Amino acid sequence: MSTPSRYPAPLGTVDELAALRADLTDAGFTTDHLAELLGPVASAALHRDQPLTARRVLLESQDPAGALVRLLVLGEAVSAQEVSAALPRTGVEGAIQLGLAVPADLEPGEEGVPPLQGTCDLRPYGDDRHDWWVASDLSEVALGTPLPTDHVLGVGGASTTLASWTPRPQVARALDLGTGCGVQALHAAGHAERVVATDLSARALEFAAFTAGLNEVALDLRAGSLLDPVAGETFDLVVSNPPFVITPRHEGVPLFEYRDGGAAGDTIVANLVRDLVGVLAPGGIAQLLGNWELREGEAWTDRVGGWLESTGLDAWVIQRESQDVAEYAETWVRDGGHRPGTPEFDDLYAAWLDDFSARGIERVGFGIITLQRPLSDRAPFRDLEEVVGPVAQPAGPAVLAGLRARTWLAEHSDADLLAVAWSVAPDVTEERVGRPGEPDPMVIQLRQGGGLSRTVRLDTVAAGLVGASDGDLTAEQILGGISVLTDAPVEELRASVLATLRDLVADGLLQ
Ligand SMILES: C[S@@+](CC[C@H](N)C(=O)[O-])C[C@H]1O[C@@H](n2cnc3c(N)ncnc32)[C@H](O)[C@@H]1O
Repeated sequence: MSTPSRYPAPLGTVDELAALRADLTDAGFTTDHLAELLGPVASAALHRDQPLTARRVLLESQDPAGALVRLLVLGEAVSAQEVSAALPRTGVEGAIQLGLAVPADLEPGEEGVPPLQGTCDLRPYGDDRHDWWVASDLSEVALGTPLPTDHVLGVGGASTTLASWTPRPQVARALDLGTGCGVQALHAAGHAERVVATDLSARALEFAAFTAGLNEVALDLRAGSLLDPVAGETFDLVVSNPPFVITPRHEGVPLFEYRDGGAAGDTIVANLVRDLVGVLAPGGIAQLLGNWELREGEAWTDRVGGWLESTGLDAWVIQRESQDVAEYAETWVRDGGHRPGTPEFDDLYAAWLDDFSARGIERVGFGIITLQRPLSDRAPFRDLEEVVGPVAQPAGPAVLAGLRARTWLAEHSDADLLAVAWSVAPDVTEERVGRPGEPDPMVIQLRQGGGLSRTVRLDTVAAGLVGASDGDLTAEQILGGISVLTDAPVEELRASVLATLRDLVADGLLQ
């Protein structure tokens, strides 16, 4: 059904990679320039795996970056002349030698130098501080066939989700588990002195080595399954976009290395959550993406909460979405390159539905699991919540601030919390909604402009507390004032407001 990849992973010496780097730079092969060259419509279509609009735009273009998109993103045949012009130092021979392309067949009756056919996906990628290039296998869009089982994934939706949500403190040692093309490791190298990147797939490690070399980023690449390659070591930050896709173990269902760890159901994520404590330095943070299976009547918080029980780790888990079993099956059968309406699509779809039905699974949740090893032997905090709407990008700064706030709350008493003179964060606004003509609002709520874009409904006591929190008076002093004004006993006011106060501090609305 699926065969291994046809072409080997790219490989280059330091000098060859330096020449390629200079060529790509001179050709303007950057995220900004490609966005300009393709324009918003073709860029968005390409993002949706529809290459036709980009092809039409590039047909008109003489831009060397356009030739590189056709060769290295769309996997098309490009004339040797265009390749030489776009990569003058590397040249046609160099591109072939690096494993980026092979000579294509000439059309019948055609003579001369054969064009080059792209065999490796290489594209610019960056964040607000970096411009990189990432090498991976050509996508399903370029291949036009179902993916090989040893496919090495490029930067996809899950990769950018994890990259966005990762808290990025400056650390000594970081681990990227399941590095694939190396994208998370590139990000980690921006704020870690040393980055270890592991993968079970030798092919993935070859792509990661090429990506690292091309970007002059030092990575300690190691082969092996899960935590085996780092046994006995500890890290300040662990990131992982693991092979979490729940896949039926059924004859004829391919095991894609890039997304499927080979374990039953959601075991791979459950085991990682349980085992990560072994590689976290005190105070160390781990973040991973995951899917979790939900049986009839089962709350996702119970399922994931069960994984956390014996870890002793702080945990903040955010469920971003959940899909019913049919949506889930469609997503992953399509992802493997099968088109609806084909017998292969239907067979695989049925295998997923049979597997879920046999095991009583009704839905599958997806989310971001952030863990922290406490510095002391205090009780770990656990926060499992659903955040489904858009959030500020990148979300990592809000996650780091939220971790810090939750840690402070876990280490301090209610009296400590009330003894702080809190300030309302600058991105917070208040909305009051009521019936026309009525003096009192029916609803008072706070809206967070940045961070995780929270909306928090307040009662009048909490609204009074927040309204007076300008960094001068402590929460206790403000509650004392409200008690005088309303004749309500201060103990009652404290009891009514404490849970809200904790949440506002945890989520950064009060700081
Ligand atoms: C979803 S991809 C993530 C790639 C990349 N880190 C990213 O964020 O795009 C998962 C990676 O895990 C690797 N993998 C699969 N099984 C593994 C295992 N048992 N141990 C370590 N890595 C594994 C795959 O080869 C693949 O590169």
